[in-house]
Amino acid sequence: MAPESVVEAKPVRSGRSEPPALRLSHRAGEMQASPLRKLAAIAEERKRKGIRVYHLNIGQPDLPTPPVVFETIRALNQKTLSYAPSNGIPEALEAWQKYLTHCGIAVDQKEIIVTAGGSEAIIFAMCAVCDAGDELIVFEPFYTNYNGFATIANVVLRPVPLDIASGFHLPSAGAIERFITKRTRGFLFCNPSNPTGTVYSREEVGTLVSLARQHGLFLLSDEVYREFTYEGTAHSIMSFPEVADQAILLDSTSKRFNVCGARIGALVSHNAEIVQTAFKFGMARLSVATVEQHALVPLLSSPKQFTGPIAAEFRRRRDLVYDKLAEIEGVTYYKPEGAFYIVIGLPVKDSDHFARWLIEEYQHQNETVLLAPAQGFYATPGKGLNEVRLAFMLNGEALERSLVILREALQTYSEKFR
Ligand SMILES: Cc1ncc(COP(=O)(O)O)c(C=O)c1O
Repeated sequence: MAPESVVEAKPVRSGRSEPPALRLSHRAGEMQASPLRKLAAIAEERKRKGIRVYHLNIGQPDLPTPPVVFETIRALNQKTLSYAPSNGIPEALEAWQKYLTHCGIAVDQKEIIVTAGGSEAIIFAMCAVCDAGDELIVFEPFYTNYNGFATIANVVLRPVPLDIASGFHLPSAGAIERFITKRTRGFLFCNPSNPTGTVYSREEVGTLVSLARQHGLFLLSDEVYREFTYEGTAHSIMSFPEVADQAILLDSTSKRFNVCGARIGALVSHNAEIVQTAFKFGMARLSVATVEQHALVPLLSSPKQFTGPIAAEFRRRRDLVYDKLAEIEGVTYYKPEGAFYIVIGLPVKDSDHFARWLIEEYQHQNETVLLAPAQGFYATPGKGLNEVRLAFMLNGEALERSLVILREALQTYSEKFR
């Protein structure tokens, strides 16, 4: 007789039965496709038909990358393209420290982890402070990829609604506090903000700082648009010493230097445990691209000469958009204090329908515009239905022309779908 521990193996499948159906994770189903790109394919189709499309939809800067980046790459003399240290090459760490010093932020090189863009810094921070199902408070409308990062990290985003009437500034401490639950681990906010261009005052950031202290929360501060501040000051979370242990700075070179494809960002914190954790996440993905880390050293080491002209150009564009919006009837808007975006309210019921109609059917003298419907920046269903985000990624002339087309299109649309 066979001993009891020996169990006869059952065949997993018989020759005739169907194999069990394959199933992807719930996460796979929840992961959103970029709402900003969904109309892009239609735009390409339209271009093939000879229609000129002005892209007001995406945040890919159109200005040239500083030549020193390519010169540095050409001058690199390395026998082997090896892995970089997981926290970043020493030159990049030193350059990030110099850059932050220029911004008035004093940190040790040990407090910096070089990441694959700001995107990886955000994911690392989420994973460091949240367990599955924990919550982060965000301010709605918010950068749409926070949704994707939260899905990857199994984090729940709790959106606090902001209002166009106040230029999307933060509400009172009491109004924010209502969103704190037992599962809340921190605030994730972007200052200056994508998609609204809002720059929070010191008092507003101070409100988050006080709430974080009262409730023991982390402050995940996305400051990738720091230099694009036209009104007031973008107060870094690192300028609040009372939350040194709670503050996590999420940063990126992408926008301020026009180097989106380099994929270099950083996570910075005075909290050694946070940095150690991010370092361990970094070890798991081995390293960030070595060549690009070298290439950006000159930019980070001496930033103002590069960021100054870029920010000045975007300020001109912001002013132009603000002036030209005054010529479009029925549009709700405010003056964005920073970044290179604005969310505007349109005199339409459904901006998704309007944006699709613009790109599928409409043309004004053989031209049309591509907009980003704002629903993609909201987590609460039904919010932002009549809003769109405009990104200022065109030169002044093209930007002006695209706003004329928008004005004409709104007129035609209101007659057609009244
Ligand atoms: C608010 C905000 N945070 C982070 C990022 C991530 O940028 P990257 O991964 O290129 O550094 C972006 C990019 O658009 C952004 O708008």
